[in-house]
Amino acid sequence: MNFKTKLDELELFGKVAKASAVLGIKAYVVGGYVRDLILNRPSKDIDFTCVGSGISLAQEVAKSFDQHVPLSVFKNFGTAMLKLDDWELEFVGARKESYRLESRKPIVEDGTLQEDLERRDFTINAMAISLNPEDYGDLIDPFDGLGDIKMKIIKTPLEPGITFSDDPLRMMRAVRFASQLNFDIDADTFFALSENAARLQIISAERIIEEVNKIVSVPKPSYGFKLLFASKLLHEFFPEMVELQGVDSVDDKSHKDNFYHTLQVLDNVCQMTDNLWLRWAAIMHDIAKPATKRFNSKVGWTFHGHEDRGARMTPNIFRRLKLPMDDRMKYVQKLVRLHLRPIALVKDEVTDSAMRRLLFDAGDDIEDLMMLCRADITSKNNKKVRLYLENFDKVEEKMKEVEEKDQVRNFQPPLSGEEIMETFGLSPSKIIGEIKEEIKEAILEGKIQNNPEAARKLMFDIARSKGIASKNHNTNQNTSN
Ligand code: CTP
Repeated sequence: MNFKTKLDELELFGKVAKASAVLGIKAYVVGGYVRDLILNRPSKDIDFTCVGSGISLAQEVAKSFDQHVPLSVFKNFGTAMLKLDDWELEFVGARKESYRLESRKPIVEDGTLQEDLERRDFTINAMAISLNPEDYGDLIDPFDGLGDIKMKIIKTPLEPGITFSDDPLRMMRAVRFASQLNFDIDADTFFALSENAARLQIISAERIIEEVNKIVSVPKPSYGFKLLFASKLLHEFFPEMVELQGVDSVDDKSHKDNFYHTLQVLDNVCQMTDNLWLRWAAIMHDIAKPATKRFNSKVGWTFHGHEDRGARMTPNIFRRLKLPMDDRMKYVQKLVRLHLRPIALVKDEVTDSAMRRLLFDAGDDIEDLMMLCRADITSKNNKKVRLYLENFDKVEEKMKEVEEKDQVRNFQPPLSGEEIMETFGLSPSKIIGEIKEEIKEAILEGKIQNNPEAARKLMFDIARSKGIASKNHNTNQNTSN
């Protein structure tokens, strides 16, 4: 297979070819770019390998541009990087690497192209395209990566145990590539994942979560999670999710398998949104079901309080997995905590105040919460699914009405603490907060309308009941006088 016509589309390849000829060394495009070229997946990262100094090659290439091209040199690693508009070009000398058992840090020596390719993770990533005059554009494919792309197979170039123990992160990458490309993992390679899963322990949580998030970002992440579960990689970093798996039965009563249910909810959410954190909320929404599971002979299996317990578990899990501990965690936590609330609003006799409370608690995340709730319907009975979805339509309509009327979704107290202090000549104290809280409660309960006039009137009533006199001693004052 020859890629000359493809290479000719980018002036850059000609420049690298010329620069390597000037230096008298052989140069190749390698790795992910070659894979993606064959798969027709546009990519802006190109890795070049040469049999010689990658740094000298990068310097020579940089010289060939009229404009200034930023060049970063990493002497310790023998690599150099050129940034050209939104392209990132990395140059490295061909090398062979061997790894020590206790660390990911390799011992690196110069090597041949063949040695360079065989130390790579998968056959589909172990191909090169020549930039040399004698075979310009030829595919160099010693492990039949092309065949594996055609067969949609993830397979290591060497015996998989060697490839994975060289760098255990590759086990996560195997599942990630399988998920992104919708490929199978070759049987021997998969067997080695289960054999070596425990070696994931030497990999930092940051690197692991990077791969997990790539799996979560694909259109149908359940496949990757099933692979992680079956290979027991998931057990190494996310035991709470593993715990969801399984079905208990007592007196012929069984509950659903919460692992597969969670994956279904996740896939459903992914059909609606690319929002990574809403996807994480789907992963986390039932995480406390195992911890709250009880059997009651009258009602069967219950998971009371799993939403609150799950919300409380969220920070610890995020911290351990090295997921962000900022507003994104709080957002996931909030959705986990609220995920049962909309379903409780389906009943006919639901009051406006219950609607207002949910709008108040969910704020601007109400639409996302409704998405999660819709995704949470995983019944196999289509009639039931339709009925539930229609119920949610009704809830959303009602919510809209209530919101238009009362505007509690982005609740701002209609009276400021300053105004309360000023009216009664009070200095900052607990009582101000208490008055504000009572006003908020009255609005949510529907006892007063959400506007300053109604709030002021109530403020005077509250003050009177607490024996607080206003500055002009007229606690009967209201806005109408
Ligand atoms: N590689 C490897 N082992 C790793 C990481 C990378 O063998 N643990 C090799 C592979 O040949 C890979 C190349 O280095 O193709 C570049 O790595 P990277 O940029 O991480 O991955 P890509 O394959 O380019 O894919 P993506 O950009 O989707 O991560």
